[in-house]
Order: sequence, then C-alpha cells, then structure tokens
Amino acid sequence: MSSCAALRALAVLLWVAAAYPVVFRARPVQALAANWGTRALHPLPGDITVRLLRDNGFDKVKLFEADAPALRALGHSGIQVMLGLPNELLAPVAASVNAAEQWVLQNVSTYVSKFGVDIRYVAVGNEPFLKSYKGKFEAATLPAVQNVQAALVKAGLARQVHVTVPLNADVYESLDGRPSSGDFRPDIAGLMVSLVRFLLDNGGVLTINIYPFLSLYADPNFPMDYAFFPSPGAPPSQASVQDGNVLYTNVFDANYDTLIAALEKHGLGAIPVVVGEIGWPTDGDKNANAVNAQRFNQGLFDRIIAGKGTPRRPQMPDVYVFALLDEDNKSVDPGNFERHWGVFNYDGSPKYRLNLAGGRPIVPARGVRYLSKQWCVLRPDASTSDPAIAGAVGYACQYSDCTSLGTGSSCGNLDARANVSYAFNQFFQAANQQKAACNFNNLSTIVTTDPSQGTCRFEIMIDTGRHELTGKSAAGRVASASWSAVLALGLAGLAAAAW
Ligand SMILES: *[C@@H]1O[C@H](CO)[C@@H](O)[C@H](O)[C@H]1NC(C)=O
Ligand SMILES: *[C@@H]1O[C@H](CO)[C@@H](O)[C@H](O)[C@H]1NC(C)=O
Ligand SMILES: *[C@@H]1O[C@H](CO)[C@@H](O)[C@H](O)[C@H]1NC(C)=O
Ligand SMILES: *[C@@H]1O[C@H](CO)[C@@H](O)[C@H](O)[C@H]1NC(C)=O
Repeated sequence: MSSCAALRALAVLLWVAAAYPVVFRARPVQALAANWGTRALHPLPGDITVRLLRDNGFDKVKLFEADAPALRALGHSGIQVMLGLPNELLAPVAASVNAAEQWVLQNVSTYVSKFGVDIRYVAVGNEPFLKSYKGKFEAATLPAVQNVQAALVKAGLARQVHVTVPLNADVYESLDGRPSSGDFRPDIAGLMVSLVRFLLDNGGVLTINIYPFLSLYADPNFPMDYAFFPSPGAPPSQASVQDGNVLYTNVFDANYDTLIAALEKHGLGAIPVVVGEIGWPTDGDKNANAVNAQRFNQGLFDRIIAGKGTPRRPQMPDVYVFALLDEDNKSVDPGNFERHWGVFNYDGSPKYRLNLAGGRPIVPARGVRYLSKQWCVLRPDASTSDPAIAGAVGYACQYSDCTSLGTGSSCGNLDARANVSYAFNQFFQAANQQKAACNFNNLSTIVTTDPSQGTCRFEIMIDTGRHELTGKSAAGRVASASWSAVLALGLAGLAAAAW
C-alpha cells in the first residue's frame, strides 16, 4: 500500500471511529484477569483490593482458596471469580462425594446465593501434576474433579460454575523444540487425556500456567529476548523457532502452541485453554526487576488488549496475570523472587507504569491506611561487629521478609549497617511497630526519617487494625497476642545467645 493510500485508509478509519464510536468500542478489547493471593503479613483489605481491580479494568480474578473476607468483598462487584480448591483437599474430596458436596455448599453455594459472588470456575488443585510433587496428587485429581462436578450439579450450579484444573506447563513437551511436535509428558499422558476429556464433556476449560521468567531463571543460557514479547517493528529474536511456515518469536506463543498441538494430537483440540498464571517478578533475583517486569507485562497487556492470540489459537484466551499484589509471607522454596510477583506493591501502589487500553496507566489503590512514619534501625553507636548482631538479624528475618537483601536484589547493595537496619525494620513493621519489636539487645533504635536509599525501600506496613481485617489464613492475622509471644521468645533467645 502506498503511503498516500495508507493515509487515506487511516482518514476513513478515523472518520468511521468518530461516526461510530460504539461500534469501535465493541472491538474484542479483552478485559483483564488477575491472581489475588492473600499470603501477606499485612494483606491489603478486601474492599480496597476489589476497588483496585475495578479501577484498573480487571473483571476476572482467581483465588487460591476460599478466603472468606476476599470472597465477601467480591460480592456484587461485577468481578467473575475462579475459586481454587487447594491440593491438600484433593484426597479427601476425591475419596468422598459428601466431602465434595460440603466443600461446594460451604465454599461456593453460600457465596453465590448469600453474598452475590459471581463464581464461574472451581479450579480443582493447583499444578497437581508438577514434576517436583513426584506423583503425590496424581491419583486424586481426576476423581476430585468428578466429585466437584457432581456436587455442582447437585447444588444446581452446574450451568454457571464449571470445573478446571490449573496445570504447570511441565505437563507437556516438545522433544525437537517445535510447537507442532508437542505432546503430553509420557508419565501422565493417559491421565491428561482422561482429564481433558472429562473437562470437555462437562463444559470445563483447561488452565495452564506459563512462566517465561522461570525459563530464564532455570537456564542461564536461555535467550533473554525470547522470553519477552517482541516490541512492534523490532527484529525477531535470534532464538525464534521456525515451525513449518510459522515463525515463533517468543516463548509464550511457542509454549502455548505446544500444548495446543498436544491436545490436537489426542483429538482434544476443542477444549478452551485459559492461562491461569503468567507474569514477571520485580525483586529477589538478578532478572527480577521493574524494567524487565514492565517490558514483559506491557507486552502481555498489549496482546490481551488487542485480543491477539497465538498462531494456533488466534484469539487471546482469558489470561490471569500473576500477580496482582506482592505477598511477603509466601514460601520462598521456588526462590526469593516468589514474594515479588505483584504488578502492584503490597499496598496496591503501582511498581512501574503499565498502560491499559487507550494508553491509560494503571492507578493505585485508594484509601489505604498505614502505620506511623517510623522505622527501626541499627543504633548509630552500635558496632556491626557486635556478637549479638548475627542472631538478631537471623531472628528478624525468620519472622519477616528479608528477600530484598539477596545478591542482585533491590537492597543487595546496602553496606553492612544499612543491611542490618533493613532486617530490623522489616521485623518491626511486621510486628505492627510495637515498641518491643525494636529492641534487639539494645542494638536498635526508632527513627522518623526514611532510611530508604537507591532502589532499596524501607517500607511502612499497612495498619490492618484500622481496616476491617481481611484474609483468614495468612499470618497477617497474627493477633498482637501471638506477636507478643514471638517477641518474648525471640528476645529470650537473643539474650541466651549473647550471654
Ligand atoms: C472451604 O474452603 C476452605 C479453604 O480452602 C477449607 O479450609 C474448608 O475446609 C472448606 N470447607 C469444606 C466443607 O471443605
Ligand atoms: C508466615 O508467617 C508465619 C508467622 O510469622 C511464620 O510462622 C511462617 O513461617 C511464615 N511463612 C513464610 C512462608 O514466611
Ligand atoms: C545482608 O544481609 C543478608 C541477609 O541477612 C546477607 O545474606 C548478606 O550477606 C548481607 N550483606 C552484607 C553486605 O552484610
Ligand atoms: C543501651 O545502650 C545505650 C548506649 O550504648 C546505653 O546508654 C543504655 O544504658 C543501654 N540500655 C540497656 C538496657 O542496656
């Protein structure tokens, strides 16, 4: 097309856009979906989180468990919910139809009918076939899915609520690296076929978690640019994969289509495949930072907004971003980055600019109340060679989140003094700034000037006491009584170590 013709076409388009704005708004602009995890020491209150979701155009959310306050906050919100049934419940629910019925009654029916929660899916288990589980949940998964489905039917919810199983991308593979050669992992191939067949027969979907960041984390030779979506006009990555007449320019497309090819190979190509988790962390690893996370998530958001899927599935499926918020009480078994997946910080403030449809940037949570502007730091007159320091820091970091202190992380470059101060402050904030939480054998003191430096932020926690408490399982609900116990115990231990 000549540039003149192109301009003319553009002019026509603009004219049409002006004349028929409604038609243009009805284009397949997909709304956003996110994972809302509640394993934070000071979880963002439910009502504030729901408003944060809505303010930023998220209309679907995934919960890992039936967190009562989160579910209540989602009532009548217009947000659709995928509700997780944790792996620990797979065996009991698989073993007993009654257990499945009770779970549905207590955790689905009640919220749908009493609280007006728009539950659309039950996610049965979370990555139950993960290789590292060594088969632990394999036998129970399909029977649990079947029992939950039967329970949904019995509860009269089967038209509205469907079953799914979120799986890790390690359930399929391609031996020659081309997506078209995709097939299920041999040890679970039969199980995958039975499971997907059941989901298909019952109006369910398959949910898959895809993590380009983890590809990079696991393999230092993984080509960095292939982990990201190519920016428009940029030359394709050197690592692009030619598959027949399709060029795969990024690992997401290649990975997703490997699964689609596997499904098609087994006559299961009709199953919708939702992306249950995808994202990029900002701390806790050398590749986890705001620049990379912004690059990845903006590429992802642009694809979602454009509705652009993969070569084999041209329509972008529902994609649940991982995650909405940071969670400082998550297990760090996978790595220190695990507590830093949020698009937003723990308090709902954006970590970096991210454009929504129309170039509108994401906006922060409103109405968050914080503890006082004070920090706990190493006393200026205390020596870093004080023999009690190691014990104090170890104790502080056992009960609070010190993952930002690691090499290559946001606080990894602090000098020894600031390093200790950071650990003290994390503990002090985690303990709701109780005076006794800034003692540390007389090595610490409270200051009112922000000790943050460079990329390292000395946080002030959310004042959960001034909000209606949310979340049920996370340690954020550790009452001040149990904090007192932690403090008494820890300080006694410290004293013993020092003497
Ligand atoms: C409802 O879900 C919660 C959270 O997963 C769980 O602890 C509880 O046992 C469930 N209720 C039933 C009846 O299974
Ligand atoms: C979460 O917090 C509780 C209470 O402070 C603690 O016992 C537990 O080890 C923490 N879990 C993680 C994964 O940090
Ligand atoms: C800072 O603290 C972390 C965790 O306690 C430790 O691994 C690291 O070596 C410390 N660095 C310095 C410079 O003291
Ligand atoms: C703590 O240290 C300061 C200064 O070193 C000292 O004045 C104070 O008496 C100490 N307090 C206790 C309880 O040891």
